[in-house]
Amino acid sequence: MDIRSQFPVLGRKVYGKELVYLDNAATSQRPLKVLELQERICRESNANVHRAVHALSGEATEYYEDGREAVRRFINAPGRENVILTSGTTASLNLLATCFTERYVGKGDKVVISQAEHHSNIVPWQIALSKAGASLEVIPVDERGELCMDEFRKVLDGRVKLVSVAHVSNVLGIVNPVEEIIREAHSKGIPVALDGAQGIVHQKVDVQALDCDFYAFSGHKIYAPTGIGVLYGKKTFLEEMPPYMGGGDMIDKVTFEKTTYAPLPLKYEAGTPNYVAAACFAPALDFALEAGMDDRIVPYLMDELPKIEGLHLYGNPAGRERKIPLFSFTVDGTHPSDIAQIMDKLGFALRSGHVCAEPLMDVLGVPGIVRASFAPYNTFEECCRFVEALKRVLSMLR
Ligand SMILES: Cc1ncc(COP(=O)(O)O)c(C=O)c1O
Repeated sequence: MDIRSQFPVLGRKVYGKELVYLDNAATSQRPLKVLELQERICRESNANVHRAVHALSGEATEYYEDGREAVRRFINAPGRENVILTSGTTASLNLLATCFTERYVGKGDKVVISQAEHHSNIVPWQIALSKAGASLEVIPVDERGELCMDEFRKVLDGRVKLVSVAHVSNVLGIVNPVEEIIREAHSKGIPVALDGAQGIVHQKVDVQALDCDFYAFSGHKIYAPTGIGVLYGKKTFLEEMPPYMGGGDMIDKVTFEKTTYAPLPLKYEAGTPNYVAAACFAPALDFALEAGMDDRIVPYLMDELPKIEGLHLYGNPAGRERKIPLFSFTVDGTHPSDIAQIMDKLGFALRSGHVCAEPLMDVLGVPGIVRASFAPYNTFEECCRFVEALKRVLSMLR
């Protein structure tokens, strides 16, 4: 399969230089099949879903539900009722934090997260738990960036109502030992939620085999459009938790005295959804299944980046098979945003700053990092050019 020709944006130039897009952990690019489906639906079938009897509404609803079915198959969820469509990982985690806390968390209770969480898996919990008189328990990471599993085991007491951790950190790029986390937590009767924003892209996720209780991710990081995401949940929790937002589509019967709610998954899907983006999950996930990463990229960068004088690479797991192609680093005597800005002028799109993980920056003792994250359409040649360009930029800055 000629991957690059499916991504028109990769052919463009920035500042007269060939674009090398290495900010995939923030947002990935979309293949032609996704772009074409988006356009076709908007041109031919635009209507509201689940509401009218007319043909266009039927087509829009079918597109929406086809997108959900593509997600269900991709993560091997038992049924469509387990797949809640949201606007993204952030929305999924806010839904979970609000509804789970309301139903299951009381005064003095705790939710366990790690030091390596994205703000989306910290702040929603702080908001919800503070209202409940509950608090966060934070598991540390070691100098390699690995979760301290001994600490994790120690904190699992009767007060812990949920463990909510990243499948893969957006800074460290390490696949966390989620099977072990789930096994340990379940042995104490504690459910586990995974922030899969990065994990879904680089790991085969089978929610039934994993036995996680919740799994959240975004479409735009896995070749689908922005504005769509998923919260997978086990049925018992989704049945027992209260709805998140009220409005159209999430109801069964409304009277001024009392309202009853729609069955799953619509109970959590108030209002008109981004059904076009949802439909695009089908071709986007097809691409994700077909396309593989160049497996030379991780070992090459794990070897070459630390050779650069003064460069500190964050996220060095004991086994390289647990490193995704995401590399965060700082370089002594330089500022991350200076590196990213000059690299941009050379055509390399990198991310810099705290990358929505300020508490982890504090742990690492840095104000921010530079991050290069790769997708299947990035070539090994681009990866080598990235290292050469970085060396050139550093020689200018130091
Ligand atoms: C680990 C992780 N969690 C959550 C998010 C938030 O995703 P979104 O902005 O798509 O809601 C991101 C995005 O970078 C992420 O990497």
